[in-house]
Amino acid sequence: MAFHNSRSTLGVLFTTLVLFGVLVAVCIPSCTAQANFTTTDYENIQVALNLEYLEAVYFLWGAYGYGLDNLTPHLTEGGPKPIGVQKANLDNLTRDIVAQLGLEEIGHLTILQKELGRYYFPRVQLDLSEANWAKIIDNAFGEKLNPPFNPYKNSLNYLISAYTIPYVGLTGYVGTIPLLQGEGAKALVAELLGVEAGQDAVIRTLLYTVKDELVPPYKYTVAEFTEKISSLRNNLSHAFVDEGLEVPKSEGADGLVTGNILSANTYSLSYARTAKQVLETVYGTGNPSIPGGFFPKGGNGTIALGYLKS
Ligand SMILES: *[C@@H]1O[C@H](CO)[C@@H](O)[C@H](O)[C@H]1NC(C)=O
Ligand SMILES: *[C@@H]1O[C@H](CO)[C@@H](O)[C@H](O)[C@H]1NC(C)=O
Ligand SMILES: *[C@@H]1O[C@H](CO)[C@@H](O)[C@H](O)[C@H]1NC(C)=O
Ligand SMILES: *[C@@H]1O[C@H](CO)[C@@H](O)[C@H](O)[C@H]1NC(C)=O
Repeated sequence: MAFHNSRSTLGVLFTTLVLFGVLVAVCIPSCTAQANFTTTDYENIQVALNLEYLEAVYFLWGAYGYGLDNLTPHLTEGGPKPIGVQKANLDNLTRDIVAQLGLEEIGHLTILQKELGRYYFPRVQLDLSEANWAKIIDNAFGEKLNPPFNPYKNSLNYLISAYTIPYVGLTGYVGTIPLLQGEGAKALVAELLGVEAGQDAVIRTLLYTVKDELVPPYKYTVAEFTEKISSLRNNLSHAFVDEGLEVPKSEGADGLVTGNILSANTYSLSYARTAKQVLETVYGTGNPSIPGGFFPKGGNGTIALGYLKS
Protein backbone atom coordinates (compact mmCIF):
# COMPACT_ATOMS: atom_id res chain seq x y z
CA MET A 1 0.00 0.00 0.00
CA ALA A 2 2.75 2.41 0.97
CA PHE A 3 4.58 1.65 -2.29
CA HIS A 4 1.43 2.17 -4.35
CA ASN A 5 0.73 5.47 -2.61
CA SER A 6 4.11 7.01 -3.20
CA ARG A 7 4.02 5.89 -6.85
CA SER A 8 0.74 7.70 -7.40
CA THR A 9 2.14 10.74 -5.57
CA LEU A 10 5.07 10.75 -7.97
CA GLY A 11 2.62 10.42 -10.85
CA VAL A 12 0.64 13.44 -9.70
CA LEU A 13 3.85 15.40 -9.19
CA PHE A 14 5.04 14.51 -12.72
CA THR A 15 1.73 15.52 -14.28
CA THR A 16 1.76 18.78 -12.33
CA LEU A 17 5.27 19.57 -13.52
CA VAL A 18 4.35 18.89 -17.14
CA LEU A 19 1.25 21.07 -16.91
CA PHE A 20 3.25 23.85 -15.26
CA GLY A 21 5.85 23.61 -18.04
CA VAL A 22 3.18 23.94 -20.71
CA LEU A 23 1.65 26.89 -18.85
CA VAL A 24 5.01 28.68 -18.62
CA ALA A 25 5.77 28.00 -22.29
CA VAL A 26 2.42 29.46 -23.33
CA CYS A 27 2.37 32.26 -20.80
CA ILE A 28 5.84 33.76 -21.12
CA PRO A 29 5.48 35.18 -24.65
CA SER A 30 1.89 36.42 -24.23
CA CYS A 31 2.05 37.40 -20.55
CA THR A 32 5.12 39.59 -20.97
CA ALA A 33 3.46 41.18 -24.00
CA GLN A 34 0.71 42.47 -21.66
CA ALA A 35 2.12 45.84 -20.67
CA ASN A 36 1.69 47.11 -17.16
CA PHE A 37 0.52 50.39 -18.65
CA THR A 38 -0.88 50.79 -22.16
CA THR A 39 -0.79 54.15 -23.90
CA THR A 40 -4.46 54.73 -23.16
CA ASP A 41 -3.82 53.82 -19.52
CA TYR A 42 -1.23 56.59 -19.35
CA GLU A 43 -3.62 59.02 -21.03
CA ASN A 44 -6.47 58.22 -18.67
CA ILE A 45 -4.25 58.61 -15.63
CA GLN A 46 -2.99 61.96 -16.94
CA VAL A 47 -6.47 63.42 -16.34
CA ALA A 48 -6.07 62.65 -12.65
CA LEU A 49 -2.60 64.20 -12.52
CA ASN A 50 -4.23 67.60 -13.07
CA LEU A 51 -6.31 67.09 -9.93
CA GLU A 52 -3.44 65.69 -7.90
CA TYR A 53 -1.54 68.93 -8.61
CA LEU A 54 -4.55 70.97 -7.52
CA GLU A 55 -4.82 69.06 -4.23
CA ALA A 56 -1.10 69.12 -3.49
CA VAL A 57 -0.85 72.87 -4.02
CA TYR A 58 -4.03 73.76 -2.16
CA PHE A 59 -3.53 71.57 0.90
CA LEU A 60 0.21 72.19 1.35
CA TRP A 61 -0.28 75.95 1.08
CA GLY A 62 -3.35 75.88 3.33
CA ALA A 63 -1.42 74.13 6.10
CA TYR A 64 2.12 75.44 5.70
CA GLY A 65 1.98 78.66 3.68
CA TYR A 66 4.22 77.16 1.00
CA GLY A 67 3.98 74.26 -1.40
CA LEU A 68 5.80 72.08 -3.90
CA ASP A 69 8.36 74.77 -4.82
CA ASN A 70 9.77 74.66 -1.28
CA LEU A 71 9.20 71.00 -0.45
CA THR A 72 9.68 69.00 -3.68
CA PRO A 73 10.46 71.38 -6.56
CA HIS A 74 11.41 68.47 -8.87
CA LEU A 75 7.75 67.37 -8.88
CA THR A 76 6.63 70.63 -10.53
CA GLU A 77 9.03 70.17 -13.46
CA GLY A 78 9.08 73.96 -13.70
CA GLY A 79 5.34 74.43 -14.20
CA PRO A 80 3.96 77.93 -13.51
CA LYS A 81 3.46 79.17 -9.96
CA PRO A 82 -0.15 78.95 -8.70
CA ILE A 83 -2.23 82.13 -8.67
CA GLY A 84 -3.46 83.50 -5.35
CA VAL A 85 -2.97 80.45 -3.13
CA GLN A 86 -2.49 81.31 0.57
CA LYS A 87 -1.88 79.89 3.99
CA ALA A 88 -5.24 79.40 5.67
CA ASN A 89 -6.04 80.55 9.19
CA LEU A 90 -6.58 77.06 10.60
CA ASP A 91 -6.95 75.72 14.11
CA ASN A 92 -4.38 73.14 15.16
CA LEU A 93 -6.45 70.03 14.48
CA THR A 94 -7.51 71.22 11.03
CA ARG A 95 -3.97 72.29 10.16
CA ASP A 96 -2.66 68.89 11.28
CA ILE A 97 -5.19 67.10 9.05
CA VAL A 98 -4.77 69.40 6.03
CA ALA A 99 -0.98 69.03 6.28
CA GLN A 100 -1.39 65.27 6.09
CA LEU A 101 -3.67 65.56 3.05
CA GLY A 102 -1.08 67.77 1.33
CA LEU A 103 1.82 65.46 2.16
CA GLU A 104 -0.19 62.49 0.86
CA GLU A 105 -0.39 64.35 -2.44
CA ILE A 106 3.40 64.57 -2.56
CA GLY A 107 3.40 60.78 -2.42
CA HIS A 108 0.84 60.62 -5.22
CA LEU A 109 2.79 63.02 -7.43
CA THR A 110 6.01 61.12 -6.72
CA ILE A 111 4.59 57.77 -7.83
CA LEU A 112 2.85 59.37 -10.81
CA GLN A 113 6.11 60.97 -11.94
CA LYS A 114 7.80 57.57 -11.64
CA GLU A 115 5.06 55.48 -13.30
CA LEU A 116 3.92 57.91 -15.99
CA GLY A 117 7.48 58.63 -17.11
CA ARG A 118 7.33 60.73 -20.26
CA TYR A 119 3.54 60.98 -19.83
CA TYR A 120 4.04 62.99 -16.62
CA PHE A 121 3.74 66.72 -17.26
CA PRO A 122 4.73 69.89 -15.38
CA ARG A 123 2.47 71.54 -12.81
CA VAL A 124 -0.41 73.19 -14.65
CA GLN A 125 -1.52 76.78 -14.11
CA LEU A 126 -3.84 76.84 -11.08
CA ASP A 127 -6.02 79.70 -9.82
CA LEU A 128 -6.71 79.38 -6.09
CA SER A 129 -7.24 83.07 -5.41
CA GLU A 130 -9.88 84.38 -3.01
CA ALA A 131 -11.67 86.01 -5.95
CA ASN A 132 -11.87 82.73 -7.85
CA TRP A 133 -13.17 80.83 -4.81
CA ALA A 134 -15.77 83.53 -4.21
CA LYS A 135 -16.93 83.18 -7.80
CA ILE A 136 -17.26 79.39 -7.51
CA ILE A 137 -19.31 79.63 -4.32
CA ASP A 138 -21.45 82.43 -5.80
CA ASN A 139 -22.14 80.15 -8.77
CA ALA A 140 -23.17 77.37 -6.39
CA PHE A 141 -25.67 79.63 -4.60
CA GLY A 142 -26.79 81.47 -7.71
CA GLU A 143 -26.29 84.77 -5.86
CA LYS A 144 -23.44 87.02 -4.78
CA LEU A 145 -22.59 86.23 -1.17
CA ASN A 146 -21.81 89.26 0.92
CA PRO A 147 -19.03 89.36 2.05
CA PRO A 148 -17.50 87.20 -0.70
CA PHE A 149 -16.70 83.67 0.51
CA ASN A 150 -13.06 83.50 1.62
CA PRO A 151 -11.75 79.94 2.12
CA TYR A 152 -8.59 81.09 3.86
CA LYS A 153 -10.46 82.96 6.62
CA ASN A 154 -10.93 80.10 9.09
CA SER A 155 -11.06 76.31 9.48
CA LEU A 156 -14.74 75.97 8.65
CA ASN A 157 -14.48 77.96 5.42
CA TYR A 158 -11.37 76.02 4.44
CA LEU A 159 -13.03 72.65 5.03
CA ILE A 160 -16.02 73.75 2.94
CA SER A 161 -13.64 74.70 0.14
CA ALA A 162 -11.77 71.40 0.54
CA TYR A 163 -15.10 69.59 0.12
CA THR A 164 -15.03 70.67 -3.52
CA ILE A 165 -11.79 68.89 -4.46
CA PRO A 166 -10.99 65.23 -3.58
CA TYR A 167 -14.52 64.06 -4.37
CA VAL A 168 -14.14 64.95 -8.04
CA GLY A 169 -10.88 63.00 -8.09
CA LEU A 170 -12.56 60.07 -6.37
CA THR A 171 -15.39 59.85 -8.90
CA GLY A 172 -12.86 60.29 -11.70
CA TYR A 173 -10.84 57.31 -10.47
CA VAL A 174 -14.00 55.21 -10.22
CA GLY A 175 -14.75 56.14 -13.83
CA THR A 176 -11.20 55.40 -14.97
CA ILE A 177 -10.67 51.92 -13.56
CA PRO A 178 -12.98 50.00 -15.95
CA LEU A 179 -11.13 51.59 -18.88
CA LEU A 180 -7.67 50.45 -17.77
CA GLN A 181 -5.94 47.47 -19.31
CA GLY A 182 -2.54 47.02 -17.68
CA GLU A 183 -2.17 45.30 -14.33
CA GLY A 184 0.16 48.01 -13.06
CA ALA A 185 -2.27 50.76 -14.10
CA LYS A 186 -5.18 49.06 -12.36
CA ALA A 187 -3.16 48.53 -9.20
CA LEU A 188 -1.97 52.14 -9.15
CA VAL A 189 -5.40 53.68 -9.70
CA ALA A 190 -7.00 51.41 -7.09
CA GLU A 191 -4.34 52.49 -4.61
CA LEU A 192 -4.88 56.17 -5.44
CA LEU A 193 -8.66 55.77 -5.24
CA GLY A 194 -8.45 54.27 -1.76
CA VAL A 195 -6.67 57.32 -0.35
CA GLU A 196 -8.70 59.83 -2.37
CA ALA A 197 -11.90 58.35 -0.97
CA GLY A 198 -10.40 58.50 2.50
CA GLN A 199 -9.56 62.17 2.09
CA ASP A 200 -13.09 62.96 1.00
CA ALA A 201 -14.50 60.98 3.93
CA VAL A 202 -12.31 62.84 6.44
CA ILE A 203 -13.42 66.24 5.09
CA ARG A 204 -17.07 65.19 5.01
CA THR A 205 -16.91 63.79 8.54
CA LEU A 206 -15.44 66.98 9.97
CA LEU A 207 -18.17 69.01 8.23
CA TYR A 208 -20.87 66.55 9.26
CA THR A 209 -20.22 67.25 12.95
CA VAL A 210 -21.29 70.88 12.35
CA LYS A 211 -23.68 70.37 9.46
CA ASP A 212 -26.61 72.22 11.05
CA GLU A 213 -24.60 75.25 12.10
CA LEU A 214 -24.66 78.49 10.13
CA VAL A 215 -21.49 79.48 8.29
CA PRO A 216 -20.93 82.99 9.64
CA PRO A 217 -21.84 85.61 8.58
CA TYR A 218 -24.14 83.91 6.04
CA LYS A 219 -27.67 82.65 6.55
CA TYR A 220 -26.80 79.21 5.19
CA THR A 221 -25.82 76.10 7.14
CA VAL A 222 -22.82 73.89 6.47
CA ALA A 223 -25.15 71.25 5.00
CA GLU A 224 -26.62 73.87 2.65
CA PHE A 225 -23.15 74.85 1.45
CA THR A 226 -22.38 71.21 0.63
CA GLU A 227 -25.71 70.73 -1.12
CA LYS A 228 -25.22 73.83 -3.25
CA ILE A 229 -21.67 72.83 -4.19
CA SER A 230 -22.76 69.29 -5.07
CA SER A 231 -25.71 70.58 -7.07
CA LEU A 232 -23.41 72.91 -9.01
CA ARG A 233 -21.06 70.02 -9.71
CA ASN A 234 -23.96 67.87 -10.91
CA ASN A 235 -24.97 70.62 -13.28
CA LEU A 236 -21.44 71.06 -14.57
CA SER A 237 -21.14 67.27 -15.08
CA HIS A 238 -24.58 67.02 -16.73
CA ALA A 239 -25.35 64.04 -14.47
CA PHE A 240 -26.37 63.09 -10.94
CA VAL A 241 -23.07 62.01 -9.40
CA ASP A 242 -22.76 64.24 -6.38
CA GLU A 243 -24.62 64.55 -3.06
CA GLY A 244 -24.28 66.94 -0.12
CA LEU A 245 -24.34 66.09 3.58
CA GLU A 246 -28.12 65.88 3.65
CA VAL A 247 -30.41 64.36 1.06
CA PRO A 248 -34.10 63.49 0.68
CA LYS A 249 -34.68 60.17 2.47
CA SER A 250 -35.16 58.38 -0.82
CA GLU A 251 -31.52 59.13 -1.67
CA GLY A 252 -30.06 58.26 1.76
CA ALA A 253 -28.45 54.92 2.59
CA ASP A 254 -31.00 52.18 1.86
CA GLY A 255 -33.59 54.94 1.40
CA LEU A 256 -33.96 55.28 5.17
CA VAL A 257 -31.99 58.33 6.31
CA THR A 258 -31.47 61.98 5.40
CA GLY A 259 -27.96 62.16 6.87
CA ASN A 260 -25.49 61.56 4.05
CA ILE A 261 -21.98 61.33 5.39
CA LEU A 262 -20.83 59.72 2.12
CA SER A 263 -22.01 60.43 -1.40
CA ALA A 264 -23.15 57.19 -3.04
CA ASN A 265 -25.86 55.73 -5.26
CA THR A 266 -28.92 53.59 -4.47
CA TYR A 267 -26.70 50.59 -3.73
CA SER A 268 -24.28 52.77 -1.72
CA LEU A 269 -21.75 52.41 -4.51
CA SER A 270 -19.52 55.31 -5.54
CA TYR A 271 -20.64 57.46 -8.42
CA ALA A 272 -18.30 57.67 -11.41
CA ARG A 273 -17.25 60.59 -13.59
CA THR A 274 -15.82 60.29 -17.08
CA ALA A 275 -12.69 62.25 -18.01
CA LYS A 276 -14.96 64.74 -19.80
CA GLN A 277 -17.10 65.20 -16.67
CA VAL A 278 -14.04 65.65 -14.47
CA LEU A 279 -12.68 68.38 -16.75
CA GLU A 280 -15.95 70.25 -17.29
CA THR A 281 -16.51 70.23 -13.54
CA VAL A 282 -13.10 71.47 -12.39
CA TYR A 283 -13.13 74.10 -15.18
CA GLY A 284 -16.43 75.34 -13.79
CA THR A 285 -17.72 75.77 -17.35
CA GLY A 286 -19.62 72.53 -17.96
CA ASN A 287 -17.55 72.17 -21.14
CA PRO A 288 -14.12 70.50 -21.40
CA SER A 289 -13.23 72.72 -24.36
CA ILE A 290 -13.64 75.89 -22.27
CA PRO A 291 -11.04 76.20 -19.49
CA GLY A 292 -11.72 78.13 -16.31
CA GLY A 293 -12.27 77.61 -12.61
CA PHE A 294 -9.19 76.20 -10.93
CA PHE A 295 -7.57 75.68 -14.37
CA PRO A 296 -7.58 79.04 -16.18
CA LYS A 297 -5.56 77.55 -19.06
CA GLY A 298 -7.10 74.09 -18.86
CA GLY A 299 -5.47 70.81 -17.90
CA ASN A 300 -2.60 69.02 -19.55
CA GLY A 301 -2.24 65.50 -20.96
CA THR A 302 -3.55 63.99 -24.19
CA ILE A 303 -7.25 63.88 -23.24
CA ALA A 304 -7.49 67.39 -21.77
CA LEU A 305 -5.51 68.89 -24.67
CA GLY A 306 -7.71 67.02 -27.15
CA TYR A 307 -10.82 68.74 -25.76
CA LEU A 308 -9.11 72.14 -25.55
CA LYS A 309 -8.23 71.97 -29.24
CA SER A 310 -11.75 71.01 -30.29
C1 LIG B 1 -1.55 75.00 18.66
O1 LIG B 1 -0.22 74.62 18.36
C2 LIG B 1 0.75 75.56 18.76
C3 LIG B 1 2.10 75.15 18.20
O2 LIG B 1 2.30 73.78 18.34
C4 LIG B 1 0.73 75.67 20.28
O3 LIG B 1 1.66 76.62 20.71
C5 LIG B 1 -0.68 76.09 20.73
O4 LIG B 1 -0.76 76.08 22.13
C6 LIG B 1 -1.73 75.16 20.15
N1 LIG B 1 -3.05 75.70 20.42
C7 LIG B 1 -4.02 74.99 20.95
C8 LIG B 1 -5.32 75.70 21.14
O5 LIG B 1 -3.90 73.82 21.25
C1 LIG C 1 1.98 70.10 -21.08
O1 LIG C 1 2.92 69.08 -20.87
C2 LIG C 1 4.01 69.10 -21.77
C3 LIG C 1 4.87 67.92 -21.43
O2 LIG C 1 4.15 66.75 -21.57
C4 LIG C 1 4.76 70.40 -21.67
O3 LIG C 1 5.81 70.42 -22.61
C5 LIG C 1 3.82 71.56 -21.89
O4 LIG C 1 4.50 72.76 -21.67
C6 LIG C 1 2.63 71.47 -20.97
N1 LIG C 1 1.67 72.49 -21.30
C7 LIG C 1 1.09 73.26 -20.39
C8 LIG C 1 0.13 74.26 -20.92
O5 LIG C 1 1.34 73.17 -19.19
C1 LIG D 1 3.57 45.41 -13.03
O1 LIG D 1 2.62 45.76 -12.05
C2 LIG D 1 2.56 44.87 -10.95
C3 LIG D 1 1.39 45.27 -10.10
O2 LIG D 1 1.56 46.57 -9.61
C4 LIG D 1 3.89 44.93 -10.23
O3 LIG D 1 3.86 44.01 -9.16
C5 LIG D 1 5.02 44.55 -11.20
O4 LIG D 1 6.27 44.70 -10.57
C6 LIG D 1 4.99 45.42 -12.43
N1 LIG D 1 5.94 44.94 -13.42
C7 LIG D 1 6.81 45.75 -14.02
C8 LIG D 1 7.68 45.10 -15.07
O5 LIG D 1 6.91 46.93 -13.76
C1 LIG E 1 -28.66 73.23 -11.48
O1 LIG E 1 -29.57 73.14 -12.55
C2 LIG E 1 -30.91 73.16 -12.13
C3 LIG E 1 -31.77 72.86 -13.34
O2 LIG E 1 -31.37 73.64 -14.43
C4 LIG E 1 -31.22 74.52 -11.51
O3 LIG E 1 -32.54 74.57 -11.05
C5 LIG E 1 -30.27 74.71 -10.32
O4 LIG E 1 -30.43 76.02 -9.81
C6 LIG E 1 -28.85 74.55 -10.73
N1 LIG E 1 -28.04 74.57 -9.53
C7 LIG E 1 -26.84 75.12 -9.49
C8 LIG E 1 -26.18 75.11 -8.16
O5 LIG E 1 -26.30 75.58 -10.46
